[in-house]
Amino acid sequence: MTMDATRQRFLMCRPTYFAVDYAINPWMDPTAPVDADLAIRQWEQLRQTYVDLGHEVELIDPVAGLPDMVFAANGGTVIDGKAMAVQFRDPQRADEAPAYRAWFEAAGFEMYDPKHVNEGEGDVLLAGDHLLAGTGFRTAHASHAQLQEVFGYPVITMQLVDPRFYHLDTALTVLDERTVAYLPEAFSPGSRAVLRRLFPDAIHATMADAEVLGLNAVSDGQHVVLPAQATDLAAKLRDRGYETIGIDLSELRKAGGGPKCCTLRLRQGKAVK
Ligand code: ARG
Repeated sequence: MTMDATRQRFLMCRPTYFAVDYAINPWMDPTAPVDADLAIRQWEQLRQTYVDLGHEVELIDPVAGLPDMVFAANGGTVIDGKAMAVQFRDPQRADEAPAYRAWFEAAGFEMYDPKHVNEGEGDVLLAGDHLLAGTGFRTAHASHAQLQEVFGYPVITMQLVDPRFYHLDTALTVLDERTVAYLPEAFSPGSRAVLRRLFPDAIHATMADAEVLGLNAVSDGQHVVLPAQATDLAAKLRDRGYETIGIDLSELRKAGGGPKCCTLRLRQGKAVK
């Protein structure tokens, strides 16, 4: 099996103001210590990994008082040169939305505003010709219809059922046009059946891998950047011919985030080569 890496363009946000000051998911414990300097060093290693792989990394300025802004995947959904802004469920993150929106606008994307709660690529993943859209905890089911209208890809609703895997990108990772990896237990029976139908060759992750946010991974079609602790998943990926790169994001995980959460894919209308 030959794999071709596609050069990616990513948006990231330095965790300058990162902290765990509130709890909006089960990973977050505001009483537990967080090493803010280590968080920045770990994030820097992620950014450098992308650069070393030949990807382009754009940066948005972090905003003081928005400790979760490092999770750029939640800043929008960007496909074919169109950017859909976000609307957060929780008031603590609300002010991130206009900051990201302004960045997309300045970067020249065609802008669309969300009519319902929509947490961007945290819940909206392009897999081949389908948009997989999570709901159950954050992104509202009603927003799936708007995503289909804006982007013109068939949207497949994915019902999330485990509060630890509150965003789709904590339960499923897109590896290439045809392949995904996911944790079956994170989905409703109906969604599991849909996943089996769409992706009969999918990799099934173990609970142990998901519990270290192993599915919060970023693939360019050949290299998969994933949490270093997700060793079983990494072995399964290598069996399938992917090259795995483990990154330790222990501090950001205290907020419920991993590599994918820190990384928003910017998909231009034109091919970026
Ligand atoms: N603390 C953040 C929240 O709960 C983490 C977001 C993680 N992002 C992601 N794409 N899964 O909203």
